[in-house]
Amino acid sequence: LFAGPVDFLKGVVAMEGLPPADRPEICFAGRSNVGKSSLINALTGRKGLARASNTPGRTQEINFFTLGDSHYMVDLPGYGYAEAPVAVVAKWQRLLKAYLAGRQTLRRAFVLIDARHGVKAADEDILALLNSSAVPFQVVLTKADKVKGKDQDKVLAQVRGTLAKHPAAFPELVLSSAEKGDGIATLRSIIAGIG
Ligand code: GTP
Ligand code: MG
Repeated sequence: LFAGPVDFLKGVVAMEGLPPADRPEICFAGRSNVGKSSLINALTGRKGLARASNTPGRTQEINFFTLGDSHYMVDLPGYGYAEAPVAVVAKWQRLLKAYLAGRQTLRRAFVLIDARHGVKAADEDILALLNSSAVPFQVVLTKADKVKGKDQDKVLAQVRGTLAKHPAAFPELVLSSAEKGDGIATLRSIIAGIG
């Protein structure tokens, strides 16, 4: 799937702007700054494809990418703290939730969680939303290059404990690093298997 062309399609600011639901779709959700856009760049091998930055709240639209001509891949705005005006953040959070709960062709939501911090309250909200909307989801722990050994094990145990409460969750966790490449091949093959 990643051997074919990947292109930016459009940035969406309202549900009416979503492209036709005519193909399988995967998305990347997670707290602001967790590394969603960086992961998309690492997966596609194209550094500037999704805009990443150190400022939480960088991605402010639902960004659609075509993956070959068979799938859509979607970069979402973050939830939690963002450096943007309150009213603007509230608007994109509503859109984010409407999208996650209501997109017919969404086959899997990858929920990114910082491997240093584990599951936070804002993540619990999103996991509960996905679960109650029956959207299959899978957790990816990001920035694995920043945490080692025992600390990593603690976070893994905490995340596994949370996922056990959610039937819509895939039990397999992926540890990733957009910087060092950990987990990228694994994720590519998981995504290639989603039809
Ligand atoms: P929003 O769009 O604001 O919600 O953020 P995002 O989740 O898209 O995060 P983004 O990809 O913009 O990355 C945020 C910051 O984390 C950037 O400074 C990245 O360089 C850094 N980052 C992302 N992934 C990794 C990683 O695997 N390892 C390390 N060390 N840093 C990373
Ligand atoms: Mg982003």
